[in-house]
Amino acid sequence: MKKIQIAPSVLAADMLDIGADVRRAAESGADMLHLDVMDGVYVPNISFGFDVIKSIRGAVSIPLDVHMMTVRPDKYIDRLADIGANGVTIHEYTCDNTRAALEAIKARGMCCALAIKPKEDAELIAPYADILDMVLIMTVEPGFGGQKFMADMMPKLDRVRQILADAGNDADIEVDGGINGDNASICVDHGANILVAGTYLFKADDMKAKCDSLRLL
Ligand code: DX5
Ligand code: ZN
Repeated sequence: MKKIQIAPSVLAADMLDIGADVRRAAESGADMLHLDVMDGVYVPNISFGFDVIKSIRGAVSIPLDVHMMTVRPDKYIDRLADIGANGVTIHEYTCDNTRAALEAIKARGMCCALAIKPKEDAELIAPYADILDMVLIMTVEPGFGGQKFMADMMPKLDRVRQILADAGNDADIEVDGGINGDNASICVDHGANILVAGTYLFKADDMKAKCDSLRLL
């Protein structure tokens, strides 16, 4: 089984003291930081952009996992690579050519991933199953932190793992949205190995204890 990795979602950090909070995450044993970029077009919310990501890059050394909830994320691949992002997740139908965008992410030395929204099927990833480094399965509607985990997404994890296996690909599977100490283990049971958690980790007094609880299950 793959090692479980914890990815705190910075959307839930203290925006007045983001530096302290991302350092707290790194010191708590987070394996990477999950950075949600929202443009107010693809999703009905606006979060933060590249200058903030650049500042975070300067503050911590753990990998940065950027989740682009924007139209035309392909326009920003070079910018993200230059900043030092380690992985970029895009959504289907946001670029003219999804495969070209995924290949461009890989060509810049970053991990490429495709996200599946709750109303989208696992089959969405099939055309790219040969090249994906990771699949992000949304367990809430994208746009906001602090929403309720959708347990009915679990069969989708099984199907994604099957589609990847059929393509001979042992890519990572990341779950994102409403993850906490009560539902992390069901995600892992269904093959997830990267757990994004925003509210559960950043709103905790003892983030390390919460990170450990997610990892040890
Ligand atoms: C939702 C984002 C998630 C979110 C997770 O659109 O993609 O990454 O920040 O936050 P929690 O864990 O609070 O649901
Ligand atoms: Zn996200």
